[in-house]
Amino acid sequence: MREQLLAAEKITAIEWRDGALYLLDQRLLPFEESWQACHSVAAVAEAIRSMVVRGAPAIGISAGYGALLAARARLEAGGDWRAALEVDLQLLADSRPTAVNLSWALNRMRDRLQRLKEGDDPLLALEAEAQQIHQSDREANLTMAQLGVELIRKHQGNAQNLMTHCNAGALATGGFGTALGVIRGAHLEGLVERIYADETRPWLQGSRLTAWELARDGIPVSVNADSAAAHLMKTHGITWVIVGADRISANGDVANKIGTYQLAINAMHHGVRFMVVAPSSTIDMALESGEEIPIEVRDGRELLELEGRSMGDAVGVLNPVFDVTPADLIDFIVTEKGVVERPDAAKMARLMCRKRLH
Ligand code: MRU
Repeated sequence: MREQLLAAEKITAIEWRDGALYLLDQRLLPFEESWQACHSVAAVAEAIRSMVVRGAPAIGISAGYGALLAARARLEAGGDWRAALEVDLQLLADSRPTAVNLSWALNRMRDRLQRLKEGDDPLLALEAEAQQIHQSDREANLTMAQLGVELIRKHQGNAQNLMTHCNAGALATGGFGTALGVIRGAHLEGLVERIYADETRPWLQGSRLTAWELARDGIPVSVNADSAAAHLMKTHGITWVIVGADRISANGDVANKIGTYQLAINAMHHGVRFMVVAPSSTIDMALESGEEIPIEVRDGRELLELEGRSMGDAVGVLNPVFDVTPADLIDFIVTEKGVVERPDAAKMARLMCRKRLH
């Protein structure tokens, strides 16, 4: 299955070449495929903040290359470059708050610097580390796809209707996706009748990005309004909701795109299984529960602007863009270290002690 999965990798959104980071601008999809070149740490931080690149693993990978660009500039400038670099790493860390992959990647880059030996070239070492973060995310996608497909097959071995939320595909990772990786694998194995993609208000990751990815792969996909999800679970025989994650706390609570929590409640009510697919770089064992996860609140104009005009100068607006699904609403968390069924703190701790399966 691994070879078939590798052949299904058709979309790339992050490239490191000629000493610069190239990002497929996700703000312009699906209308335009345009790449943005980042030559500086400031450009990478701004690309993350403005969502040129988005999705937890993709943000982490970009931050790794951002740290490399920062180190290059600080070394050229001379002086106490390591102290100056910390300012840049903080700039990257502050670019978005919820996805823990960002600080995870920055810590890996910091650790690599600390392990430098006499005579090592810091830039070569940091470049190798950033590329390793990128490559191992791709590998994690492949492993998680296989594990997720096994779960789908085990619980019902024929073609099924699956629902997903936001975009957890090639655009959001270094490979072919977390939730969409499982969906791609399930499609290859003949286990997919149709994918129901929530449009994912307000940024429309579902209708703009997930639909684009799946349609390009020839996977049958229908876009629905987020508020249609419960109705579709009742009327369209949906068997699984499969989503990604931005941060998972030590007890198995999952922060993901706003609307995921109500999907999980609806799934439980309708007897639909709920699968979260995320690499271990998304797990934050420093946070006891999801209550501690910082939730990003974005500009209200994402909600109140229509065709460039404001619909509500006189009204308040609140735009939290993530929510936390409690662990007891989740059937499975699939990672590259293995699967946790009905997550809790003890099971998550055991998972984190395991080695990666690839
Ligand atoms: O605001 P976004 O588009 O960065 O949010 C992305 C999500 O919520 C994804 O579901 C999550 O990062 C997992 S991506 C593999």
